[in-house]
Amino acid sequence: MSNIGPYDERVKNFSWTIAEKELGYKPGDVINIGWYCTDRICEQGKGSKVALHWEGHTGVEKTYTYNDIRLASNTIGAFLRGLGVKDGERVCLFMDKIPELYLGFLGILKIGAIAQPLFSAFGDESLFVRLSNAETSAVITQKKHAPKVRKILEKLPHIRHIIIVDHDGVAPLKDREVAFSLQKSVPVEHLDIHPTKAESASVLHYTSGTTGMPKGVQHVHYSLISQYLTAKWALDLREDDIYWCTADPGWVTGTSYGIIAPFAIGVTQCVLDAGFSAEAWYKWIEKRRVTMWYSAPTAIRSLMKAGDEIVKKFDLSSLRHLASVGEPLNSEAVVWSQKVFGMPFYDTYWQTETGSIVIGNYPGMEVRPGSMGKPFPGITGTVLDPVKSEPYAAHGRIGLVALKFDWPSRMRTYWNNEEAFQKKFRNGWYITGDRSKIDKDGYFWFAGRDDDIINTAGHLVSPFEVESALLEHPAVAESAVVSKPDPINLEVVKAFVTLKPGFTASKDLDLEIMNFIRKKLSPLAMPQEIEFVPSLPKTRSGKIMRRILHAKEWGEEIGDTSTLEND
Ligand code: WT7
Repeated sequence: MSNIGPYDERVKNFSWTIAEKELGYKPGDVINIGWYCTDRICEQGKGSKVALHWEGHTGVEKTYTYNDIRLASNTIGAFLRGLGVKDGERVCLFMDKIPELYLGFLGILKIGAIAQPLFSAFGDESLFVRLSNAETSAVITQKKHAPKVRKILEKLPHIRHIIIVDHDGVAPLKDREVAFSLQKSVPVEHLDIHPTKAESASVLHYTSGTTGMPKGVQHVHYSLISQYLTAKWALDLREDDIYWCTADPGWVTGTSYGIIAPFAIGVTQCVLDAGFSAEAWYKWIEKRRVTMWYSAPTAIRSLMKAGDEIVKKFDLSSLRHLASVGEPLNSEAVVWSQKVFGMPFYDTYWQTETGSIVIGNYPGMEVRPGSMGKPFPGITGTVLDPVKSEPYAAHGRIGLVALKFDWPSRMRTYWNNEEAFQKKFRNGWYITGDRSKIDKDGYFWFAGRDDDIINTAGHLVSPFEVESALLEHPAVAESAVVSKPDPINLEVVKAFVTLKPGFTASKDLDLEIMNFIRKKLSPLAMPQEIEFVPSLPKTRSGKIMRRILHAKEWGEEIGDTSTLEND
């Protein structure tokens, strides 16, 4: 029997108090995610249970019990407090998937500060816009990433401390830097947990916007209620699971379901800090006897490409349940998974803004390959007619995916940008920015995004951010960035560029521009191709029409071009 049981009954009798009760929380109580993920599990007598099996890319292994993660998060929390970090201040985690990232996240939350995880592959420009918008006070990082912080430090007066977790004790520390070693610190047995309440800010994740700079999605400690229950019911996570979430905590999947929910449930988590290879992944599942595996479509398609034979080389019989998130999970991938693993990947749909799964396929419910499934119990989801901003009267038509904005882990605002937050609502509905249809049985079928944001390998890339980086190159006059199709990543980034007088398109210039923007952005946002063009399609008012370029790349109808300049 699955945790969720019969879906329709759960929907009928649903209340978030189910999760509140299981977590022993009553409205008005103190609620601190850091405490729930560590101290509470220890208080339940499970301090010696393994919380985290970690393996680095060099093969180094580390294992932490729940008592170990309780002590380590206390120790990091106390260190930050000692530096003068106060509740409500933003502390950035800028690290690879090393244990300090997971433990630091919990330590930050324990002292009531706001955890701001940033993907460690970000270049200095991507880092700068996010740290300056958040007015971040401290950055926890590794020595290999510290140079990127140093480069922009002068423009970041709010940063008081750069904490280096692997300092060798030899190289001199630079401006505002301080060394911290978890191994060498005396474990802090008792830490006063900051008495955060339901609405106290917890996590700040940056997400790409279409027109402006990235937006800081602000979450609160009460998000735990949704994250806990969706992990139990949608991911079917159980206390005795050996769980592997492949996402990096630089992104929301890696925190909601890679730290918060699994530790709050008290499962054993496995983290592999190594690049993708089918062999390494299967080996990890075999070695750790993984039972529940949460991954993403691009990874699944890459595994598919690696073939069926390699699967047979490993003992994957421990697997019990599989789920996926981040981008469309094509039906072929679901069917393939059924064939090779003996079970489908269950697609789940959500966003940084939703904080937890809002639509999904649930164990026990018929999986319709290619569909995202149905709204999680307690979530009201619909598809709006884009013109009337009202739900369609009949099913089957593509419209805007909209949600009633009332579940515990919904974002509370965009950091310092209430205006952008308010723009996400129409007629009282929260507009996700995605398009979908609903079939007669209530299943959602994803149809694409409703804006210019590019989803490459499950990562959202803002065309605006890439265009801004391109425009800083002296040869670039104008640029327009769109997606183009790709068999594995579904979409990849493509840039159209016009050159300033005196510059000529060439292979060398292409390379030079690529190298120039690589340092500023992250590898994920890098264009796969730059196409030099004499001019870009524009509206009469001079706005670049990405839509036209996009349609050409995808071989689609161009649609209404009546506002075009040169038609
Ligand atoms: C966007 C959110 C929250 C997980 C990580 C991504 C796309 C997400 C699906 C899915 C089709 C999906 C949507 C969404 N997306 N899940 N199952 N099928 N598309 O979080 O970076 O905020 O991206 O990812 O476009 O709006 P994110």
